[in-house]
Amino acid sequence: MEAKLTFWDNMAKRYPRFNDASMSKDVNHILNWCHENDVFFDNMSVLDIGAGKGSMTIPLAQKGARVTAIDVSAGMLEALNEDATQTGVSHHVQTHQSDWGAFALAKQYDIVIASMTPAINEVQKIEKMLGATKQLGIYVGWGKYRTNKLVEALAKAHTLQEEDDCSSAGCFRVAQFMEILNEKQIAYESTFFDTGWEEEYSFEEAKEYAYEQLGRKELTPDDAIIESILLAHMQNDKVIVQTQAEKGVVLWKKLNASSNS
Ligand SMILES: C[S@@+](CC[C@H](N)C(=O)[O-])C[C@H]1O[C@@H](n2cnc3c(N)ncnc32)[C@H](O)[C@@H]1O
Repeated sequence: MEAKLTFWDNMAKRYPRFNDASMSKDVNHILNWCHENDVFFDNMSVLDIGAGKGSMTIPLAQKGARVTAIDVSAGMLEALNEDATQTGVSHHVQTHQSDWGAFALAKQYDIVIASMTPAINEVQKIEKMLGATKQLGIYVGWGKYRTNKLVEALAKAHTLQEEDDCSSAGCFRVAQFMEILNEKQIAYESTFFDTGWEEEYSFEEAKEYAYEQLGRKELTPDDAIIESILLAHMQNDKVIVQTQAEKGVVLWKKLNASSNS
């Protein structure tokens, strides 16, 4: 299936930079847990699938990894490259604009990572990810829940069906990822943590956000419904969008792979 370039390029206008506070909090939590599990990044070659604006890529390059970051969205990678330059790690970062399914994998990397990306949305793409690493892989995805009251209200007002905000957004839950590792008898460690963040949009930006979210769920937007829901979420001229979620991390190591600890 072709990746939806337009959705992610639009999203890139608002998606947080690598050093956004709530983004950094989650990434630090994940990387500390990796360290506790004897995963070190210094001098490692890393493939970051669906790297976005580099929330993983840049901290890993700062830890001394040589990171290849791939993403379908030119807008996301532009911000990633700007921040890599700004933080003095651009010599450790290579970017490729590509869909993961179509990416020509020319070699194996020490570590493969995919974080919060619908690039990993089918078994075949997980298998490609498993084959992309010599040593170990890290998958970060949604855990048991993700709630966003604005998106829920929009979806409910546009459909009679109850929506699940994770499964309808092209996400691959961590539990599904673990099931596939179980089937393949691949051992792994996992951890789950609660997180949350708040976005503030002008009315026009929020309308664009609402159109994108409904489009993603293949629902036809109704202007009057959208406007009334946005008005109900306004505080001091801004539309407030709050998300609460559980995130999970899965870490698997290849048998016979040498450890760098
Ligand atoms: C929610 S963002 C996550 C970005 C980053 N990994 C993070 O954790 O902050 C999802 C990213 O996946 C990218 N993406 C979506 N589908 C993709 C695909 N089929 N191949 C490669 N990248 C994809 C999007 O462009 C977007 O940058």
